[in-house]
Amino acid sequence: MKKGIALILTAALLLTGCGGASAQANTPEKTDAAQEEAVVTEEASADEAQQTEAQEPAAAAENAVAEAPQETTAAASDTLVLYFSRTGEQYVVGVIDKGNTAIIAEMIAEQTGADLFEILPADDHYPMTYEALTDVAKQEQNEKARPEYSGTLPDLSKYSTIFIGSPVWWGDWPMIMYTVFENNDFSGKTLIPFSTHEGSGLSGFDKKLAGACPDSTIGKGLAIEGNDAQNNQEKARESVSSWLAELGF
Ligand SMILES: Cc1cc2nc3c(=O)[nH]c(=O)nc-3n(C[C@H](O)[C@H](O)[C@H](O)COP(=O)(O)O)c2cc1C
Repeated sequence: MKKGIALILTAALLLTGCGGASAQANTPEKTDAAQEEAVVTEEASADEAQQTEAQEPAAAAENAVAEAPQETTAAASDTLVLYFSRTGEQYVVGVIDKGNTAIIAEMIAEQTGADLFEILPADDHYPMTYEALTDVAKQEQNEKARPEYSGTLPDLSKYSTIFIGSPVWWGDWPMIMYTVFENNDFSGKTLIPFSTHEGSGLSGFDKKLAGACPDSTIGKGLAIEGNDAQNNQEKARESVSSWLAELGF
């Protein structure tokens, strides 16, 4: 396994920012990995919110005590966290039930009140063992594949800021993320990238995102080691908090 990551890290250094992958015809490996459903969580409880009717000042004063509205209108979030993440066998951390990036995505959503949406492959052909997954990911990168994702993203028109995160795969965004960037309208939005990795940092996620979404503003990104996300969450949470504070959240 060490050999695998060493190869990836070397290739990552070579590939960063150059986009020089060559096209090859290959069939991605298939597995029986169960396909999960995409979920939007933590939608603001707009349906519970009640609008009070406008009143004349005199009437309002009269009713001030007896009929003062007890509920406030909950504002829907204008911030979304979009992420891709894998479980199964991962480098350094072994077999995991919750993906490293998923853990960070949830921290961001918790701390900002953002909605959360997980990008899931339409046909989950990604192996659950590390070495096999690196092979499939490399093939996709070489082919400049655009793997389909399952379901539909939430209505992006209601979001002004979107955090977008994934693991670093071979020094780049996983190819499925380019499908997301290219199939949706992110123009006019502030996009803030984050990665989990095991040594390559942000791997130019910000520049690559800017290239894929030229009409968006790209915010300062965050890179967290997968092992910290999984096994040192206090440290990871502190990094997330200070980054969010710097961004003005
Ligand atoms: C296919 C594949 C390629 C990877 N390439 C890199 C890499 O280039 N640089 C790096 O630091 N880590 C690399 N890693 C490690 C992952 O980025 C890291 O384990 C990440 O935290 C996994 O996140 P996840 O659990 O959300 O999928 C790779 C892992 C896989 C599976």
